[in-house]
Amino acid sequence: PTIHIITPTYSRPVQKAELTRLANTFLHVPNLHWILVEDSQRRTPLVTRLLRETGLNYTHLNVETPRNYKLRGDTRDPRIPRGTMQRNLALRWLRETFNANSSQAGIVYFADDDNTYSLELFEEMRSTRKVSVWPVAFVGGLRYESPKVNAAGKVYGWKTVFDPHRPFAIDMAGFAINLRLILFKPQAYFKLRGVKGGYQESSLLRELVTLNDLEPKAANCTKILVWHTRTEKPVLVNEGKKGFTGPQCGDLTVF
Ligand code: UGA
Ligand code: MN
Repeated sequence: PTIHIITPTYSRPVQKAELTRLANTFLHVPNLHWILVEDSQRRTPLVTRLLRETGLNYTHLNVETPRNYKLRGDTRDPRIPRGTMQRNLALRWLRETFNANSSQAGIVYFADDDNTYSLELFEEMRSTRKVSVWPVAFVGGLRYESPKVNAAGKVYGWKTVFDPHRPFAIDMAGFAINLRLILFKPQAYFKLRGVKGGYQESSLLRELVTLNDLEPKAANCTKILVWHTRTEKPVLVNEGKKGFTGPQCGDLTVF
């Protein structure tokens, strides 16, 4: 099957570095299709060029999260979680592109642009029949969070401290979905509103499967194959100071 990787991304100083690192990983993965969705009004030249130069098989989309939804603290309009509208656009693209009855074998995986992915992870997810799951490192204030797996190889709960009673207490990086399931349940999207922190993943997964359907991977969830790393924001306080502005720097295309 083809692995469809859905990545939301937005403009910031480290964006090109993040996408370069991701592309370098994906170049080692056979049969991969990268759906990169920019959180922007239009597709930017930076991302357009980067994608073209990777040689990867890709689809380049964009949708801007309305600015007022990005603000925290407004009780009437809770913020839309990061990357949600972008992931939903990619789901819609898949449904419009692949016919529900088509024999197109595929796997769908949501890969944020700042995480770290082992190559083994992609081989593990390739055999997903409905939804496969595995541990994710550095989330929920723990070294890792993980599905709980019993002796029979069934998922029966969640090794998490933060709200283990969520229907699916799992980070975005901790599961993959068979494309067939996405096509057979065309109404399943991430909820945009009224989603408490940590419930975003559940809002999609509960439309698709029950706990009993989950397929543990990574040696029955005993191996870490993905890390929820976050990139430090670079300190650029000397930008704009004397000697470091002006036309001599203007044509440097680093960002
Ligand atoms: C955690 C989860 O791992 C994310 O999957 C979840 O979307 C997020 O929380 C959330 O609920 O808001 P975290 O590391 O805090 O992740 O989030 P980011 O990595 O900053 O953002 C997730 C993805 O959305 C990234 O690929 C990022 O590039 C993208 N993003 C972020 C946008 O497209 N627009 C933004 O304004 C911010
Ligand atoms: Mn992140």
